Amino acid sequence: MKWPVAVAVVVLAVAGCGGGADVSIASPDRGGVGIVMPTTKSERWIADGENLARQFTLLGYRPDVQFADDDVKAQISQIEAMVARGDKALVVAAIDGTALKDVLGRAAAAKIPVIAYDRLIRDSGDISYYATFDNFKVGVLQATSIVNGLKGKGPFNLELFAGSADDNNATFFFNGAMSVLQPQINAGRLKVRSGETAFAKVATLRWDGAVAKKRMARLLAGTYSSARVDAVLSPYDGLSRGILEALKAAGYGAAKRLPLITGQDAELDSVKLIAAGQQAETVYKDTRELAKVAVQMTNSLLTGGRPEVNDTKQYDNGVKVVPTFLLQPVNVDKSNYQRVLVDSGYYTAAEVTG
Ligand code: GAL
Repeated sequence: MKWPVAVAVVVLAVAGCGGGADVSIASPDRGGVGIVMPTTKSERWIADGENLARQFTLLGYRPDVQFADDDVKAQISQIEAMVARGDKALVVAAIDGTALKDVLGRAAAAKIPVIAYDRLIRDSGDISYYATFDNFKVGVLQATSIVNGLKGKGPFNLELFAGSADDNNATFFFNGAMSVLQPQINAGRLKVRSGETAFAKVATLRWDGAVAKKRMARLLAGTYSSARVDAVLSPYDGLSRGILEALKAAGYGAAKRLPLITGQDAELDSVKLIAAGQQAETVYKDTRELAKVAVQMTNSLLTGGRPEVNDTKQYDNGVKVVPTFLLQPVNVDKSNYQRVLVDSGYYTAAEVTG
């Protein structure tokens, strides 16, 4: 193969999550790629940014990873700057999935393709592809762990939490979970004593654990002043830990047995809580694989190919159905965290027990 442009020699750290050997390779300069991540408050997005950058670099691109710490305007400015300097493509995990229409219009005018990463960008026709996990299934897995984890006829008291309403994923997770929980609520096996069941009522702005903690504390002081909560649907580990703090402050985990709490992302702090029997479940999404898919999509687009997709129906963003590649999420609990997370090298045994 002949490289038309200058050949850059880059030194790369080739590794998964942990360290690895440094290698020098020659690769073409294929241009800049803007990688826009929502926040550094959650480990996963930091890892996503690193994985994307590493893989783009290996292919000869010059990645620039930006985090906006959940500030929507800052994220828009970052994208503006990437468009202005002529990046070849953008990979975007939106903070507010409804706020990027205008800036993506500018990217489209400059013929810069955009890949929506993990979170669907809504209300814009200027997205080429979407790389994510089966988000509905995430909710199904969480709810199934509740339904199977509660032993007996019930009725059991359940409370519901959802993610940030401006993140399209939050609705998918919630709908997936309710597809399993609602029949059991209807049958009387599960009961949401607070009566707070509408998505808008149980959503948690910006996936903020402190907000979830506050809401759980309110429910415990009111609805549960003389009743026990048996299970809590939480869509994300960061919320689960906030909920757990509120429960512990109200005497759960000591005099009262902790309820069954779900989660998502297999964050290290939550995997430790699973090992300790305090959080029942998390949904593991191998973000190294997600990065691979997004990089392949981008590279294929930029080299005249056609990215591979496996879903052309579910992700209607209000303007178009965005062609999507869905990866499979994995249910993780005390019985399999060792095999799924440690044996696979995602975490070391020392990290989980340390
Ligand atoms: C969602 C994502 C989840 C979780 C959450 C909070 O969009 O799909 O895996 O990370 O954001 O960061």
